[in-house]
Formats: sequence, C-alpha cells, structure tokens
Amino acid sequence: MDILLLGAYGQLGRVLHGKLAQLGDVAAPSRMEFDLAREDSVRRGLNAARPELIVNAAAYTDVDRAEKERDVAQKINAHAPAVLAQWAAAHDAALLHYSTDYVFDGKGRTPHRESDPAEPVNIYGETKRAGEVAVAESRAAHLIIRTSWLYDAQGANFLRTILRLAKERKTVRIVEDQIGAPTPAWWLAGASVEILQRFLERRRGGLLHAATAGTTSWYGFAQAIIDGARDRQLPLSVEEIKPIATRDYPTPAARPENSVFDLTRLRTEFDVNPPHWRDALSPVLDEFADAADKP
Ligand SMILES: NC(=O)c1ccc[n+]([C@@H]2O[C@H](COP(=O)([O-])OP(=O)(O)OC[C@H]3O[C@@H](n4cnc5c(N)ncnc54)[C@H](OP(=O)(O)O)[C@@H]3O)[C@@H](O)[C@H]2O)c1
Repeated sequence: MDILLLGAYGQLGRVLHGKLAQLGDVAAPSRMEFDLAREDSVRRGLNAARPELIVNAAAYTDVDRAEKERDVAQKINAHAPAVLAQWAAAHDAALLHYSTDYVFDGKGRTPHRESDPAEPVNIYGETKRAGEVAVAESRAAHLIIRTSWLYDAQGANFLRTILRLAKERKTVRIVEDQIGAPTPAWWLAGASVEILQRFLERRRGGLLHAATAGTTSWYGFAQAIIDGARDRQLPLSVEEIKPIATRDYPTPAARPENSVFDLTRLRTEFDVNPPHWRDALSPVLDEFADAADKP
C-alpha cells in the first residue's frame, strides 16, 4: 500500500514513520515539499503521491501563538484536512487524521466519550475541531484519533521543558488543577498501526480516543518526570516542586481543566489496551538519559 505521511518531522510523525513501514511504502515529504498552509501545494502533493492511505500527523500545535495567528492555524488545522478528505473521497483512499483533547471545554469530572459535545475554549481547539468536522463530513473512509498531552524524548513538549527547568532552577511551580493522561509518541505510534490494521480490514472508523490509562495533573506528571530523572542520575538543581492553580499561571490561551478520555472504544472495538501513563514514561526517560550520556 502507498502511504503518504504528513508531519513526519514532528514528535509523533518521527516515530510513526518507522512504524508505518509495516503497512506499506511510506512517502514523507517535508513542509517545503508539501505545505499544508497552501491549498495548491496540498493538491499538487496529493496528485503526485497518489496515496492509498493518507496519515496526517501535521498540525499547527502552538496553542498560545494560535490566539494571535488564527488564520494560519485555520489553514493548517481545518482547511488542509478538508482538502485531504475531499481528495481521499474522490480517489478511494483512506485518511487517518489526528486531533486533540483541546476540542473539549474540560468542564465536568467524568472522562470524555467520543460522543460528548466538543466545545473548545481556545483558538487552537476551535481550528482542530473544524478539521475534525471537515473530515467527518466528507465521504472519505476516515479515522480521527484524538490524543492528549503528547510528549517524546525529542521535540517541544512538557517533559523536555520540565527537565530543562529542573536543571536550571531550585524551585519549579506547576499547575495542579488540570488533569489528563500524558501520552508518549512511541506508544501512540505503535497503537496507531494496530488501530489502522483493524480500520483497514473493517473500514469502521470515525472518532476514537487514544491515550494512556490512569490520570494525573501537570504537577503529578512533573513529579514523576523529576523522580525518574533522579533515578537515572541526571544532573538536577531542583529542590522543590510547588503545586499552583491555573489562575496563578496565566497563559494567552485558556486550557481545559479535565482532559481525561473514556477509552472504552479503543479497548473494546480496537482491542488496544493502553499502558498506565507511569509505565509509558519510563522508556522515554531512558532514551533521554541515554542521549544525555553521549558527549
Ligand atoms: N502536542 C500535544 O500535546 C498534542 C496533544 C493532543 C493532540 N495532538 C495532536 O497530535 C498530532 C501530532 O502532534 P505533535 O505534537 O507530533 O506535533 P508537532 O511535534 O508540533 O509536529 C507538527 C508537525 O506538523 C508539521 N507542520 C506544521 N505546519 C505545517 C505546514 N504548514 N505544512 C506541512 N507541515 C506542517 C511540522 O513541520 P516542521 O517539522 O516543518 O515544523 C511538524 O512536522 C497533531 O494533530 C496535534 O494536534 C498533540
């Protein structure tokens, strides 16, 4: 099968690239070759690659900057997925698109189901939701995987920010009143291939929540990262991790308080049993520590 992977140089895309090779031949153009902000580039790229499966791991992911750059976020997160879906429908190709917990307002204490109403609280979430709707309303065979709190040993993410702060500062202050499930790229990439195999066999797709099991706050996640870094003898200056409230850490974009997903569909229809978020963290810290050991 000919697969077109978009966003192959992002945190998820980098890991997906190797894993997707199990399913077929993977073309992975760079942003220069295939620019999702430009419809002509998207159409040209699709017509040149003529994929049977499109995997869209590319997105405008800077949540705070999106507040000032709605137009570009909208082009990449909403308009481009619509064009991918139209092309897929017209050429009998399948589309795997990724989305986010930030489509929810995060009010309420229960885990979000796929059928729950999406009411984003920031522009990034609004543009990602518009992308979901465009894909869902197309006639393409599609799967939309929503994930949460994505991180990796590489890229720009919470884990890497915490490890940098813990090296530089004696005290780090971390938000305690937002909860979710930190999800490493290595797990999501492997799970995506399993999910895709089932989707391609049965053509039963739609929306699917995929994240690790268990729940924590950003504060709990930071504690686990720092404890794990200490266990691996990484040099740290941090002495105190202080829990704070969201109101004491103002950001340009609002965040949902509750980002926890209900994972029933993932477990029962796709037979994927996610690991606990703490267990999934270990290999990422091992990779980070190995890289730090190297001169
Ligand atoms: N990060 C999170 O916490 C999180 C949480 C939930 C869901 N998600 C979703 O998961 C998916 C993967 O996220 P990620 O964290 O892996 O993203 P990421 O590390 O920010 O990578 C995004 C990728 O998109 C590419 N891209 C951005 N603008 C582009 C454009 N105009 N044309 C072509 N490519 C473009 C980037 O290219 P360059 O390499 O050239 O920059 C990069 O390869 C996204 O759908 C995201 O919304 C992320």
